[in-house]
Amino acid sequence: MCGIIGYTGNEDVREVLLDALELLEYRGYDSAGIAMEEEDAQETTVCKCAGRVRDLRQICTAEKSRRGCGIGHTRWATHGGVSDANAHPHRVGRVTLVHNGIIENYRELIRDYELEGALHSETDSEVAAALLDRFYDGEPVEALKQTVSKLKGTFALVVMFSDHRGVIYSTRNVSPIVATVSKQGGMLASDLTALCRFTSRYFVVPEYHVLELREDSVKLTDFDGKTVEPEYLKVDWELNSSGKNGYPFYMEKEIMEQPEAIIRTIENRVKGGMPDFSMDGVPDSLFTDCERICIIACGTAMHAGLVAQALVKSILHMHIEVEMASEFMYSDPVIDSGTLVIAVSQSGETIDTLEAVKYAKRRGARCLSVINVKGSSIARESDYVIYTNAGPEIAVASTKAYTTQLAVFYLIVARMAHSRGIFSAEETQSFIRELQRTPEVMEKVLKNRRDIHLMAKKVLGAKDLFMIGRGLDHSILLEGSLKLKEVSYIHSEAYASGELKHGPIALITADTPVVAAVTQDKLMSKELSNIREVASRGADVAVFIKESLAKGLEGEFALFALPDMRNEFMVMPASVALQLLAYYVSSDKGFDVDKPRNLAKVVTVE
Ligand code: G6P
Repeated sequence: MCGIIGYTGNEDVREVLLDALELLEYRGYDSAGIAMEEEDAQETTVCKCAGRVRDLRQICTAEKSRRGCGIGHTRWATHGGVSDANAHPHRVGRVTLVHNGIIENYRELIRDYELEGALHSETDSEVAAALLDRFYDGEPVEALKQTVSKLKGTFALVVMFSDHRGVIYSTRNVSPIVATVSKQGGMLASDLTALCRFTSRYFVVPEYHVLELREDSVKLTDFDGKTVEPEYLKVDWELNSSGKNGYPFYMEKEIMEQPEAIIRTIENRVKGGMPDFSMDGVPDSLFTDCERICIIACGTAMHAGLVAQALVKSILHMHIEVEMASEFMYSDPVIDSGTLVIAVSQSGETIDTLEAVKYAKRRGARCLSVINVKGSSIARESDYVIYTNAGPEIAVASTKAYTTQLAVFYLIVARMAHSRGIFSAEETQSFIRELQRTPEVMEKVLKNRRDIHLMAKKVLGAKDLFMIGRGLDHSILLEGSLKLKEVSYIHSEAYASGELKHGPIALITADTPVVAAVTQDKLMSKELSNIREVASRGADVAVFIKESLAKGLEGEFALFALPDMRNEFMVMPASVALQLLAYYVSSDKGFDVDKPRNLAKVVTVE
């Protein structure tokens, strides 16, 4: 969702801002804008438009290149449609502002402070700019504190005051801002991707503090006026790992990277063949003292949770629930000090997951998070963190983040099984050996990707599609189906194949292709019956099947054979195959695979 950038320093400010906005494009957006101090006057120039950063670049060419100070924004519309006027930055009087989040009480603020006349857009953000201008009497910090005290909702505000040249101000609640000062100047952003080019050192602006960013210094004060030292962290992502590396799309690159990513996730967490979380500081007591587990997540991360749920039930025989973070707080969840809450998130910034973690902690639960982005908000809020080490994931459709989340869950389940006396040391080691085979098995699927491309042709023209499977296969397909609909815009539903007869089979025709997964030995015969039921109603069926189960079926269905693993692990090769299916359908249709319409990579509004 919305991206923010701010820069003050020696380099050409227009170019720095536009380049950084390009790096933030992956978050998902519909309009973009920048504001820069004018060279000789206490004024700010604003350029903004609906559309892409490349459109913004076109309209900014009239602006003179110069060193200086500026702010930029990519907007994902929430309040007010996609239009030039609603794009950020918003300038009201001496204030120029960009905002991430939602100001929930913006209507009341317009009414109470009679701001209507100052507004030129339909956004909640411009209301914050107008209010700030109302309170501003030459003292930026005081005006920001006063404004924030009136705001309800989540926000990261980044502001320039035309009479305070060279300084960028920021304050926030929930929505993150990271900042740094390097030899090129001072820089802040909504996420690290935009800062990586400048430095590997950064700090997170704490909530309800005011940041004053200059080209060579930062000042951070809390709302009582006390100066606070920024806590610097280090990014350990290589800068070039966020490039496309010769692939046409990030999604393909990230699918191909999965074997390496899995190795990075597990290599330092296996000692003497046993799962080991000492590098993460996660004690065994976390796993032995809990009575139940609750997994909280959204989207693809929640689908990783569903696979974990199947493993926990079948191996640990424990009570476990997987909750959609957006529903969690409103569903009276059964959470107490005996609950181990596991939050799963690639970005570590999904606001629903973050709020759910805070809620669970208030209820006395201990919270472990499984996160990709280091130092992110959910990671900081959790009692313990296991980082997936997938590296930067840029494509909106999540791929390597998902499979590395699964890898962490295999480690957790194995560690829990051993520490709770369910697995012997030998059983644990054998389970881990299978996990260690995953990269080579994934490589085999990737090598045969041409065959998946051929399968993709089967579904290319479909408007509607079903994915069917039982048990773990159903969980795998929920993710496969999400992937397909995200990037190809085909309406796809994953259904437990046994349930099909209770409704959806009415929709099966020769125009409704069916994708099936058959990876679990014990479910195979029932799954095949369900597949034959749809085939006999005319559906064109493509089956992703465990290799050893495929014998004798070659003539009957279009098959893609998945290399054999233990049943619990078949999700790994199957996921890679389904990701490739979605990717090929989207790229063959000529879509912008990495930036599907309406979607955002980082969902920072509830
Ligand atoms: C968005 C992304 C998905 C992601 C979900 C949860 O919808 O487009 O790819 O699965 O958010 O994000 P998180 O960062 O918490 O894993």
